[in-house]
Amino acid sequence: MHRTPVARVLPDFPWDSLAGAQQLAQAHPDGIVDLSVGTPVDPVAPVIQEALASVAAQPGYPTTHGTSEFREAAAGSMARRYGIGGIDPDAVLPAIGTKELIAWLPRLLAVGAGDTVVIPELAYPTYEVGALLAGADVLRADSTVAIGPQRAPLLFINSPSNPTGRVLGVDHLRKVVEWARQRGTIVASDECYLGLGWDAEPVSILDERVSGGNHEGLLAVHSLSKTSNLASYRAGFITGDPELVGDLLAVRKHAGMMVPLPIQAAAAAAMSSDTHEQDQKERYRERREVLRAALLGAGFRIDHSEAGLYLWATRGEQGRDTVQWLAERGILAAPGEFYGPAGAQHVRIALTATDERIAAAARRLAP
Ligand SMILES: Cc1ncc(COP(=O)(O)O)c(C=O)c1O
Repeated sequence: MHRTPVARVLPDFPWDSLAGAQQLAQAHPDGIVDLSVGTPVDPVAPVIQEALASVAAQPGYPTTHGTSEFREAAAGSMARRYGIGGIDPDAVLPAIGTKELIAWLPRLLAVGAGDTVVIPELAYPTYEVGALLAGADVLRADSTVAIGPQRAPLLFINSPSNPTGRVLGVDHLRKVVEWARQRGTIVASDECYLGLGWDAEPVSILDERVSGGNHEGLLAVHSLSKTSNLASYRAGFITGDPELVGDLLAVRKHAGMMVPLPIQAAAAAAMSSDTHEQDQKERYRERREVLRAALLGAGFRIDHSEAGLYLWATRGEQGRDTVQWLAERGILAAPGEFYGPAGAQHVRIALTATDERIAAAARRLAP
């Protein structure tokens, strides 16, 4: 039992409950294929490592707002990779990895007791954690129609979705923005997987077709963990409404939420070059094809999954039973219930394993 009320209000860390399945999968004679978390396995590109080392001798504090190189590189990458022009580098704020940013965003935006934070039906667990840390209520809803009259100052969306890989189209996103603007709700769009579209085109909340070129009330959160294999570095950023970003900066300055300078330099290099990002996407595309075919061959149904880093799969039984079935074959997956009650019959299978491990999983799934 936790002593402090904040620790008590948070859910148990879901992955702790996978220990049994993990042990079983590890006992496989050819070793475990761990597809339960989306952690990158391919090396960091040399250009990024060199940038990290290039400032390793500098002793001074970094700024919370980040270097101009970081902010310009972030704005440049949004324009080049996703066609979003008009981002003022001043409206970019570095994050110490986006999990940190998401977990504290409700609190930093002064959302609190009596407020509701709206999150997707099936969601990355940190949206709920962020709401709970702020003392707010949580409502799971995929359509604005499902949201009642309560005060909802903040709504998280995540397209492509973790865990389902679902992509929200331009029309859907535009309706969300219209609804939010009528109510003064801030939309925080977690765009961690925006670059990983397979069968659909993921669209940013800041896309002109969605925002009308006006970023008021909109925040886009971008992680470098998956696109540039930088999960170990902890690097990302938030951008969008310049006034909101300015307020976040003001608070984060006081709280010491600074990205280390070598990480800023590495991230700036990562955002300035697209070659490694494209190469990585192709690796995931190939792994996805192999795993997809193997799962379908083994009788799984795959839902959504048109983009992103996961296959959202079901055998038409409880996801926990599927986790066990896979663990008996030395494969570890995450049960869909980690992401919300609507995921009870699914498992989430990550594409983040080496080609060798993905091939091993495919062999084990063969009928
Ligand atoms: C939807 C989503 N958002 C944010 C993150 C956090 O990424 P990071 O903290 O590494 O930037 C993840 C990580 O898996 C994620 O799946």
